[in-house]
Amino acid sequence: MRRRSQRHQTGSVASERPKQRGKPSGTRYIVARTADLRPGESAKFLLPIRGTDEECFLINYRGQFHAYLNRCRHIPIAMDWIDNQFFAEEGRYLMCQTHNAYYEPDTGECIAGPAGTCGKYLYRVPLEIVDGVVYATPPDPDFAGDRDKWQP
Ligand code: FES
Repeated sequence: MRRRSQRHQTGSVASERPKQRGKPSGTRYIVARTADLRPGESAKFLLPIRGTDEECFLINYRGQFHAYLNRCRHIPIAMDWIDNQFFAEEGRYLMCQTHNAYYEPDTGECIAGPAGTCGKYLYRVPLEIVDGVVYATPPDPDFAGDRDKWQP
């Protein structure tokens, strides 16, 4: 059963350099506040990656925040045919609406879908949460590469 997730729109509205030790050294962007998304909700944002604003999405999955590039691992197109609809099965999975590939929300692993897609991972966007603010840092991507370059 598919459930339409409650959704929000947001954008990359501000950026700053990280000030804390041990944090990624790249510019990070404010993409949301934790209070903006309840469990089962998502929000899209743009992030500059390799000189291009790439569409990404932030999810609150069972109280934990994750972000991924909005690009299916079956065919490299956006997953939300209906704008900002990523969750399916009562918020248990993320789903690409084109051919119904299912992904684990917390790892981005494809667990069901078209041949050749299972076992691949969504491209993760690193997040930091400081004082209720969610920051995203552009990853150093290799879109043709394997999951190790995109997973923590
Ligand atoms: S493009 Fe996503 S499942 Fe085919």
